[in-house]
Amino acid sequence: MPRHLAIVMDGNGRWATKRFLPRVAGHVKGVEAVRTVVEACALRGVEYLTLFAFSSENWRRPAEEVSLLMRLFVTALEREVSKMHANNIRLKVVGDLSRFDVKLQEMIANAERRTANNTRLTVTVCANYGGRWDIMQATSKMVAAHPGVTEFTEEQLAEHLAMAFAPEPDLFIRTGGEERISNFLLWQLAYSELYFTDTYWPDFSIASLDAAIASYQSRERRFGRTGDQLPEKKT
Ligand code: IPE
Ligand code: IPE
Ligand code: MG
Repeated sequence: MPRHLAIVMDGNGRWATKRFLPRVAGHVKGVEAVRTVVEACALRGVEYLTLFAFSSENWRRPAEEVSLLMRLFVTALEREVSKMHANNIRLKVVGDLSRFDVKLQEMIANAERRTANNTRLTVTVCANYGGRWDIMQATSKMVAAHPGVTEFTEEQLAEHLAMAFAPEPDLFIRTGGEERISNFLLWQLAYSELYFTDTYWPDFSIASLDAAIASYQSRERRFGRTGDQLPEKKT
């Protein structure tokens, strides 16, 4: 089982357009898929589930769609946090939250505080997140923490990344047919197994999740070594 699963939830708009619905209907439906996947991950013993909900670049969308996405975020927090807490799930939100409404920032802080000691599964929502933003903010913090120092190690940078609390993702999934990273966890995906599916995010089901996990389980992770050097060599 992957310890850490990271997902680019893509295809909401096309899911809706295909049904002659407004794009926002796809986002609403996408929240249901989030619920399904969170529950399934908790049951399967995944320890970290990280969801790309809004990228640094998504501000470029029409203002109406951006504000609907923000409202949806607020409603989802209002509705889901108690349930997550009851299920021993910890919620984290990472990204440049300073650009969000103060009320939303407070809700996020409260939800994180309330679920902070939960241990079953950590769900991280990446909101106004960008991999380049993350590397830059970590670099600034690292430099500030070591005045006068000009040479650093990878570990010194990694400890300031927004997701320093989690191991690097074992499995990356992107739904919706596009095969790109779109500025998600650039540093942390260095050795993740990548899985792409044409399924639009609102259609992503427990069976879709299990297919992705089965694909992951069939891979040989070599981390630069040869296959023969691996401890449990497959026959
Ligand atoms: C992903 O679905 C959700 C967000 C980026 C917020 P899209 O809205 O990108 O859906 P498509 O790619 O247009 O179908
Ligand atoms: C990536 O999806 C971001 C999220 C899923 C939040 P996009 O739909 O924004 O990515 P591009 O624009 O197709 O690369
Ligand atoms: Mg998209």
